[in-house]
Amino acid sequence: MSETKCRVAVLASGTGSNFRAITEACRSPEYPARVVCLVTDNPQAGALEIARAQGVSAHTVEVRETRGRLPYEAESEMARICASNHADLIALAGFMRILKGPLLERFENRIMNIHPALLPSFPGLHSARQALDYGVKITGCTVHFVNRSIDAGPIILQSVVTVLDDDDEESLLARMHVEEHKSYVEAVRLFAEGRLMVQGRRVKVLQHPAREAR
Ligand code: GRF
Repeated sequence: MSETKCRVAVLASGTGSNFRAITEACRSPEYPARVVCLVTDNPQAGALEIARAQGVSAHTVEVRETRGRLPYEAESEMARICASNHADLIALAGFMRILKGPLLERFENRIMNIHPALLPSFPGLHSARQALDYGVKITGCTVHFVNRSIDAGPIILQSVVTVLDDDDEESLLARMHVEEHKSYVEAVRLFAEGRLMVQGRRVKVLQHPAREAR
């Protein structure tokens, strides 16, 4: 009765708490996805330790420049790793690089990202700080498909986090992470169940899994 699960490659540069949340969800037999590999640009990424602990195969593609755009060769290598692991979906989880080339071409409409703000507000880096500086009362996280524009692909899910009067960046981010983990696990589930339909900028969530709808 076991069906083929959606194969997810996770790309992460840092701590990897979203990567952990997804791999932990995947342990449940009824969760429709499984993580097939972790790819990182950072040999010091905490995500590598999580991969070891969780038994996920990990690949480091070192990049000389510290942040920003991924050089073409490095992006090609990452695309090759994801393809050789037969990934159906790529989940960017704190991946601090801008995709422009081979990954987007090879995995069009099959790359997700999570961003710690209610897009289109506060794109880019330090979104929690931007939200605090602006003085908004609510912020949140956004899971979206990745396209060629930064933090601007079609939105899959958003979840609200209330800003408290005594919040600083650290306390706000701590509550943000709780919502991020839930949202990312849910977005991957919806994709795996074939329930996301992209129509231009809008992503519709189908009520029933595509498989069962037939
Ligand atoms: C998250 O806040 C995510 O929204 C952003 O980078 C952070 C990654 O955190 N894109 P972690 O490495 O998953 O803990």
